[in-house]
Amino acid sequence: MSRRGHSMRSTKVAIVGAGPSGLLLSQLLGREGIDSVVLEKESREHVQERIRAGLLEWTTVELLREAGVGARMMREGLVHEGFDVAFANGHRRIDLKGLTGKSMLVYGQNELQKDLAAARCDDAGAVLWEARDVTLEDFDTRAPRVSYTHEGTRSELRCEFLAGCDGYHGVSRSSVPRERLAQYERVYPFGWLGLLADVPPPHEELVYANHERGFALCSMRSRGRSRYYLQCPLEDTVEEWPDSRFWGELRLRLPESYARQLLTGPSLEKSIVPLRSLVTEPMQFGRLFLVGDAAHIVPPTGAKGLNLAAADVWVLSRALVEFYRKGSATLLEEYSARALSRVWKATRFSWWFTLLMHRFSADPFTQRLQSAELEYLASSDAASRTLAENYVGLSFD
Ligand code: FAD
Ligand code: DHB
Repeated sequence: MSRRGHSMRSTKVAIVGAGPSGLLLSQLLGREGIDSVVLEKESREHVQERIRAGLLEWTTVELLREAGVGARMMREGLVHEGFDVAFANGHRRIDLKGLTGKSMLVYGQNELQKDLAAARCDDAGAVLWEARDVTLEDFDTRAPRVSYTHEGTRSELRCEFLAGCDGYHGVSRSSVPRERLAQYERVYPFGWLGLLADVPPPHEELVYANHERGFALCSMRSRGRSRYYLQCPLEDTVEEWPDSRFWGELRLRLPESYARQLLTGPSLEKSIVPLRSLVTEPMQFGRLFLVGDAAHIVPPTGAKGLNLAAADVWVLSRALVEFYRKGSATLLEEYSARALSRVWKATRFSWWFTLLMHRFSADPFTQRLQSAELEYLASSDAASRTLAENYVGLSFD
């Protein structure tokens, strides 16, 4: 305590946000003996209950195992060697394993959050939940500071580096003066309505369906728990989508062979997310590093958001380890360029897959081009391989 009612702490790396990026970074640094403190504005329960992504690339799986948080994931996750693209009342399987040698793992982001939080919270004081009014200061100097309010006390955390892992709505990106960053953005004219239910999925693999009524996706969290998404107008609200309307619309958008297998049940969760692409350049400002959704957002088609966040964490953790082990700042200086090279490739893929699978307009020319591309994809190994290679994730370099 420095003054009455005001406390001060110091650490090597201050991390804002306890989403997958923040907790994984803290965990990887902890295993290398590098001290960090994570400041999260929400409660641990809230973070662990948020229903978000569900599909991990194999490089993400390996990184989580390397971080020592992979045991339950390997027991409970479902290995998927392919998925279906459905259109014109038929479907084509994309054989991920056959085309790329790689698979995906179905494991809910909220389960991952539980595993990461359990690992970090072994280390007392490593994560401060419900830390409010976080402000970032002096990140252009060698002694950045973060101020925050925790349990009613305004406190200060002194650090050597700052990692902004606080997502799209976080404080880190907005702390950077506007003229120091460029933002490249696309807003899509629709949203995804998601529904979670304790029913088995209609097919053992994921089904991405292009339909004239709009896109639909059958995903899952386990063999008995399904996650579905429907393209919907941005103005729609969850109240306008009672379960019966959701199930009826989903059935209309699936090929008959899957629609017949569809089992319905009460929703456990329903939410609408807007679709957006955003890339911030650069991703480093002095000693502040933006990581994951704080720096970039992709539309969910193709499930790249969480995997990109993990890739940023990998690049930054390597760079910090090199700095603390060898005193070299070379990898830190390369962080932005290395991360952005991968980010732009995933941004391109997510944009392309979104364009291919959704209904954008009633323009017949656009629709015929989309049908032609889907037919080409279904008939060409080269086109299927390109999709598969991007879907399983491009390799780290
Ligand atoms: P986040 O998970 O957003 O974590 C940021 C953390 O920072 C949060 O815990 C937040 O509470 C905290 N925070 C924010 N502001 C502050 C502050 N001022 N001070 C302190 N803490 C702060 N991706 C997919 O691949 N597939 C999907 O189906 C999918 N669905 C999604 C649904 C929703 C509703 C959202 C929002 C995202 C979805 N994503 C999906 C994207 C994926 O979940 C993200 O890419 C991933 O969560 C990124 O992790 P992150 O740690 O970088 O950011
Ligand atoms: C899920 C979300 C996606 O965006 C996707 O492409 C695949 C799966 C999911 O939430 O399960």
